[in-house]
Amino acid sequence: MKVLVLSLTVALLSVLIISYNFWKLDIQALPLFIKKLFVDSKIEDDNIFIRKENGKLITEESLASFRGYDNDKIYLAILGQVFDVTSGKRHYGTSGSYSYFAGKDGTRSFVDGLFTSDVPGYEISDFTGSQLLEVYKWIQFYNSKYTFIGKVVGRFYDENGGPLNELTSAFEKYKLAVAEKFQLDELNKIFPSCNVAWKENEGTKLWCTSKSGSIEREWTGIPRSFFDQNLQSTRCVCVKNTGKPSFDFIQDQNNGDLNHPNLKIFDKCDPNANECFIF
Ligand code: HEM
Repeated sequence: MKVLVLSLTVALLSVLIISYNFWKLDIQALPLFIKKLFVDSKIEDDNIFIRKENGKLITEESLASFRGYDNDKIYLAILGQVFDVTSGKRHYGTSGSYSYFAGKDGTRSFVDGLFTSDVPGYEISDFTGSQLLEVYKWIQFYNSKYTFIGKVVGRFYDENGGPLNELTSAFEKYKLAVAEKFQLDELNKIFPSCNVAWKENEGTKLWCTSKSGSIEREWTGIPRSFFDQNLQSTRCVCVKNTGKPSFDFIQDQNNGDLNHPNLKIFDKCDPNANECFIF
């Protein structure tokens, strides 16, 4: 019994420690069960990717009659969720720019912007995590601007309103994308992009301000080349050069994050200047 309690405590402590340092990790490298734990903790409670409330459960055929002419009402669906968009008639009505969406589930077209595609509007099995993040934003939009009516039965929801495989696997992909985005955003706060400008006589100028990379901060930083392991690419970033490092694994020498192993000084740049020209 004691051994069990001890193992559980160690497991819990490890989860807490890793959780605290979550954004410093490469999420792809985490074991699946830990990855899932983190990811679940990053999803908002009021998540509407998979809708719990049923509203009216309607068929695709029935949805098709709500296009603003057979029926006064205009409905559209996204990821199987039906919204009454009659108040947006100027967009979705027969002469509106977005009439394509009326009376159908056009999830795919919300992302690829193609309104005459051969691929059915509801086909999203090939969507990447970031495309699913876009889908989620559209659901949030419809949820805040229009009235939720119910669910389309067949593709994403079954006849009882429960989620079907297509939806649950998209949700898993989406959750991972949320976590990866969180990790990326956190990294961008530590290493915001530097400003870059090119002039014929001067070459390329790299410089940092306390707002560069669209990250408002108290420090300015100095330009360095940063190799991003997740993206497998190099970019110019501004690096905090005073105070404690942001990562535990960097030795604290009161020079901020300058000792991060993925950083390199640009050739021809003064290593301490917050502005320099590279060629
Ligand atoms: C993936 C591509 C796109 C999709 C899926 C899309 C979809 C939509 C939808 C559904 C609406 C109606 C929103 C509502 O109900 O209030 C809308 C509105 C609008 N869209 Fe797009 N759009 C796309 C690209 C564009 C582009 C490229 C432009 C501009 C060049 C544009 C300009 C507008 C404008 C101006 C409105 C507002 C019209 C108004 O309020 O009268 N859209 N869009």
